[in-house]
Amino acid sequence: MKLAKRLDAVKPSPTLAITAKAKELKAKGVDVVGFGAGEPDFDTPKVIKQAAVTALDQGFTKYTPTNGILELREAVCAKIAQQHGLSYQANEVIICCGGKHALFNLFQALLNPGDEVVIFAPYWVSYADMVRLAEGVPVIVQTRHQDGFEPRAADIRKAFTARTRAVIVNSPSNPTGAVLGRETLQNVIAEVRGNEILIVSDDIYDRLIYRGRFENVLTLDPSLRPQVALVNGVSKTYSMTGWRIGWTAGPADLIAAMQKMQDNSTSNPTSFAQKGALAALTLPLEEEVERMRKIFDDRRQLMVEKLNQIEGISCFDPAGAFYAFPHIGKLLERKAPGEKEPLGTDEKFIARLLDVHKVAAVPGSAFGAPGYMRLSFAIAADQIEKGVARIAEMAKSLS
Ligand SMILES: Cc1ncc(COP(=O)(O)O)c(C=O)c1O
Repeated sequence: MKLAKRLDAVKPSPTLAITAKAKELKAKGVDVVGFGAGEPDFDTPKVIKQAAVTALDQGFTKYTPTNGILELREAVCAKIAQQHGLSYQANEVIICCGGKHALFNLFQALLNPGDEVVIFAPYWVSYADMVRLAEGVPVIVQTRHQDGFEPRAADIRKAFTARTRAVIVNSPSNPTGAVLGRETLQNVIAEVRGNEILIVSDDIYDRLIYRGRFENVLTLDPSLRPQVALVNGVSKTYSMTGWRIGWTAGPADLIAAMQKMQDNSTSNPTSFAQKGALAALTLPLEEEVERMRKIFDDRRQLMVEKLNQIEGISCFDPAGAFYAFPHIGKLLERKAPGEKEPLGTDEKFIARLLDVHKVAAVPGSAFGAPGYMRLSFAIAADQIEKGVARIAEMAKSLS
């Protein structure tokens, strides 16, 4: 069939593809360790589920306003006020079907053909493709392992041109777990101030921090507010990935434009899922959130320590999110048993890791970082031990 050309520019999400393949193998009874998924393994807290059940029982099953129910938008405003001390109005917030959808709508609302969006690599797979789908041009700034994956000032400066319309700041980062320091945030602010450029602050991992404190461009400089879109959601913090509730808070005209997109595509996010998200934001769940964070922190330590014990692997210690992003470049120079050529690419490494050693991970190339792989530590500690032992076994088998 003759299909839309605009889709030629994007690839299916490799993270979703690898997760699907691992699930398929598991369903066949294969003992696969899945490091692929970008979601917490905990159940959604019971009180949140209960709020959605009550909403269903009470018949809260009809269309809601496209931009989300007022109580939820107000709860988002209250969260921002508490976190940043900034006062947002409900018309400056739109509830979307997940943070991903909030970003998709944002780029659709913001970009004209050829507009540039600065993205720091390694980056979350979807950023570049969402920009392309909005006919924008991703401008990639490489960061380095030895810099803690923080972009260098000169590289930031070079990336901004007369065509730049936005820059994405994702801290803590998927896939590296890096938390950007003040200097980097200030360097980004310096490029944006006085220019018609939006900072898209993807704060989805804001509650998953293992060292230091969460900061974004607005906690550093509240005066920048007219040039900032805050993107967040309930998926990661409250283990609610399947509920599909996220949002953007930002300038009212941007939010209204996003609503136009949403009016003509999904309409409102699911009514009773919004009630669940409202419960997440308004009930006293701090202890629960902290409990999950602590478990992630223990697993982080376990995973990073074990990975760094493997000869040929060097793993950056993530300060946030739930991913380890080890460098495997040295292993790629080696040959698998019976092969004449070295493995060469992270994709080949990952394919063999799944086929032979039954471990699912995502190749770094998918995040603009060849020579790395992403391992989610949102799985049980015994699975981490087992999976990393299998990676060690594969490393050992290479020569
Ligand atoms: C960096 C980043 N931003 C946004 C999202 C969106 O999450 P959701 O659409 O589940 O809210 C994800 C999910 O993986 C992510 O890793």
